[in-house]
Amino acid sequence: MIGLVDKFGRQISYLRISVIDRCNLSCFYCTPAANGCRSVMGDALKLDELVRIVRAAAAFGICKIRLTGGEPLLRPDLIELVEKISAVPGITDISLTTNGALLKKLAGPLAAAGLNRVNISLDSLHPEAFHRITRGGKLEDTIAGLWAAYEAGLTPVKINVVLLKDVNDGEVSEFARLTLDRDVDVRFIEFMPITGDSHDWKKHYQPIDIAMAHCVAIAPLVEAESPENGGPARYFRFKGGKGRLGFISPLSRHFCGDCNRLRVTDQGKLRACLFSDEEIDLRPLLGQENAVIRAFSQALAAKPDPTRLDSDPLVRCRSNTLGMVSIGG
Ligand code: 5AD
Repeated sequence: MIGLVDKFGRQISYLRISVIDRCNLSCFYCTPAANGCRSVMGDALKLDELVRIVRAAAAFGICKIRLTGGEPLLRPDLIELVEKISAVPGITDISLTTNGALLKKLAGPLAAAGLNRVNISLDSLHPEAFHRITRGGKLEDTIAGLWAAYEAGLTPVKINVVLLKDVNDGEVSEFARLTLDRDVDVRFIEFMPITGDSHDWKKHYQPIDIAMAHCVAIAPLVEAESPENGGPARYFRFKGGKGRLGFISPLSRHFCGDCNRLRVTDQGKLRACLFSDEEIDLRPLLGQENAVIRAFSQALAAKPDPTRLDSDPLVRCRSNTLGMVSIGG
C-alpha cells in the first residue's frame, strides 16, 4: 500500500493515535505541571472506537499506525487493541511510542499481539538526571523495558532524546556511542515550546546542529538510509557503526515538507498538523465508515502548505494549544 499524496506532494501513509492522555511520568518539557496530566481515561476513545478509526484509515490508504499517548502502556486493553489493529487488512506496520517504564512485562505480549516496533523516550542515561527530567521516573525501569523490547524482537528499537541545554546536552556523545556496536537508532529531537513548562523553553532549547557537532567529533558520519517514507528525521551512522543517528529539527530547519502523517487525539479528534488546532471530531461519525473516510480526505486536504507555515518557531508551536500528552508526541 503506497498511501496517499496531498496537494503538496507529501505521501501520507501514517496515522498516529494518542490512546490515552495519562502518563506515569511527568517530563517537564511535555507535561504542564508536576501533576499536570489530566486523568481522562474515562472519555478517551474506547477500544471499538479506535478499531473503527483504524479500519476507516486503512480503507482510506493508511498502512502504518503508531500508538502514542500519554503513556499507551497504561491502557489496560492495549494488548487487545494491538491484536485487533493487526487484524485490519491493509495495516502493515504497528508501532508504539512509550517511556518504557512498564515495557518489561508487556513487550512479549505486545509483540505476540502483532506490535512491530517501539520508540522509547529516554532523555538521560544517568539516574539522577532521568529522575529530574521525568519528575520522579526510575531509569532502571526504562532500561529494563528497553532490553525487553530487544528480547521480544520489537526492532529496530528507536530511542528518542529531546535535546535539553544544561540538562542532557552533555550526554549526546554517550547516547551517540550506543549506535557504534548496537542495532539501535538514537534520535535527537529539538525541544518544541508546545506544552510543559514552555516559559523555560529558551533556557533549554538547543538547535540540533549542536548535537550533530558532538557526534561528528566522535567519528565521521555517513548518510544512512531512512526508513521508507520515514518522515522528517534525517539519518546518519558512524562509519562502520551498527545503529543509526537521527536528527529531528522542527524549529531550526523547516521539516514540514517531509511530513507523512495525520493524527488522532485521545478524544477522537483528527488533526492534520502538529502546529495547528484545526481538527475534525470523528466520534459522531464512527457509525458510518464512509463518513470517517471522508473526514480523512478533508484532513488530507487541510494539511497546510509546508512553505507557508509561520516561520517563527514560537508562533508555529503556539498555534497548537493542546498538549503533546493528548496529541501524541
Ligand atoms: N519537544 C520535543 N519533543 C517532545 N516530545 C514530547 N514533548 C516534546 C517537546 N515539547 C517527544 C518526546 C517523546 C515523544 C512522545 O514526543 O520525546 O519521545
